Amino acid sequence: MPRLNVLFVVSECVPFAKTGGLADVAGALPAALAERGHDVRVVLPRYRVTKKHPARMLDHVLTVPVSFGPVFGGVSETTLPGSRAKVYFLEHDNLFDRGGIYGDSNGDFGDNLARYTFLSRGALELCKLLNFEPDVVHVQDWPTSLVPVYLNTLYRHEPLGRAASVLTVHNLAYQGWFNKSELHVTGLGWDTYLKGGLERRDTINVLQGGLVHATIVNTVSPTYATEIQTPGGGEGFDGLLRARGDVLGILNGIDDTIWNPELDKHIAAPFSAHDLTGKAACKAALQREMGLPERPDVPLIGMVSRLVTQKGIDIFAESLGRILAEDVQVVVLGSGEKWAEDLFLRLSHSTPHFRAWIGMNEPLSHKIEAGADLFLMPSRYEPCGLNQMYSQRYGTLPIVRAVGGLDDTVDNFVTGFKFEELSSAALSQCVEWALHAYRDEPAHFRAMMLRAMKKPMGWNHAARQYEALFRLAMAKRRGHLTDG
Ligand code: ADP
Ligand code: GLC
Repeated sequence: MPRLNVLFVVSECVPFAKTGGLADVAGALPAALAERGHDVRVVLPRYRVTKKHPARMLDHVLTVPVSFGPVFGGVSETTLPGSRAKVYFLEHDNLFDRGGIYGDSNGDFGDNLARYTFLSRGALELCKLLNFEPDVVHVQDWPTSLVPVYLNTLYRHEPLGRAASVLTVHNLAYQGWFNKSELHVTGLGWDTYLKGGLERRDTINVLQGGLVHATIVNTVSPTYATEIQTPGGGEGFDGLLRARGDVLGILNGIDDTIWNPELDKHIAAPFSAHDLTGKAACKAALQREMGLPERPDVPLIGMVSRLVTQKGIDIFAESLGRILAEDVQVVVLGSGEKWAEDLFLRLSHSTPHFRAWIGMNEPLSHKIEAGADLFLMPSRYEPCGLNQMYSQRYGTLPIVRAVGGLDDTVDNFVTGFKFEELSSAALSQCVEWALHAYRDEPAHFRAMMLRAMKKPMGWNHAARQYEALFRLAMAKRRGHLTDG
């Protein structure tokens, strides 16, 4: 199999910058592809948080037309840890040296169109500087959705224009809406805006541009791929996606070098499916750290989540009265909507068996995965979801709503517990069922833990599927270029 040149453009990537699961995917999939022999180059912005990671400054000056003139930036290079996959940081301190990735406590940054235009177009300009000819440009979500538009317009007649583009939708709800008066920022013309897919309701919709122009569009689980092609789950794009006819779901994997209870440096004691003793130490350590009574017998429910409606935190909040009436402990780690942060902090102070930690805390996220008995994800929708896979790997049985990737990755009463209806009643009932299994059916509960821990969830399978998708995209791109 000839190796492929893959340009992977992304707005966040572990270990350099992370707000959610996209970063986990970006840190792992390129490495899995590189492992299979491909030349994979990851491009992301040099945010302030990335600066603690050493990178070699290249001599090149990156010239990117943004708005009315060229913007000059620097480029530095490193690799993904433990991998040959190269990482390029596009540097422009005015745009990226800030206290947040997409925004800060005042909301999204007002110049995000310029910031992600710089990334999208900068990634293509970088290929020219490096003499790198990608066979496929793989982009993720709205921040890099201008890339397929550029390949079909401004770069169409350049050698780069031969590259196929694959747009992976990690979350259809975030679309990149901008006032049309900002169109000049992108360097694209009104014809592209009006007839080329960027215009939606008299406004720029960057994701839509990507969905129209990408050679192939995919998403991160088979069930979400089906859901987004229905009016209920399509966020206004179901018709467009059905008309494309090529949207399939490839399940994410998990990075076994980071999420592995045998190797995890953040947890109190290692453990595995062959020897679970360390898990009890992890539970005791978590209880101690969170100021909960150190009781091995009480079921401990964990949650690590962006505190937003997508994650069902409203129905979780409604069900807390009923859940906390049980002999149970609950630990929540997350940040997001203020009402939820306030509520969880208040409860944390007033309820002896509920604790919340508000903010991003990577070590604690590992400690919760390892130390809890059950892990809650009552999502309204979930493109894939990684935490339910991490928790299975750590023998912490997930309680999930049967949607999107949660439905695809949890086997009911085999490796976790599922409920269907989006309601606090259905959620609390499912929690009660899981608690009953924990207390009254310990042998079955333990068998479930072992089955969950042994389930194969690595990236290799997904990497092979992406490889096939890339080849399909290349064939399709060649066909398009010959046709027109
Ligand atoms: P999403 O990307 O929609 O937020 P995923 O389940 O795919 O959901 O991935 C979430 C990732 O972000 C996981 O790696 C999870 O551990 C991490 N995460 C979420 N909230 C926090 C937090 N407050 N602190 C540390 N890690 C977090
Ligand atoms: C998004 C989705 C999440 C998915 C992640 C990585 O953030 O909300 O479900 O796991 O992307 O694909």
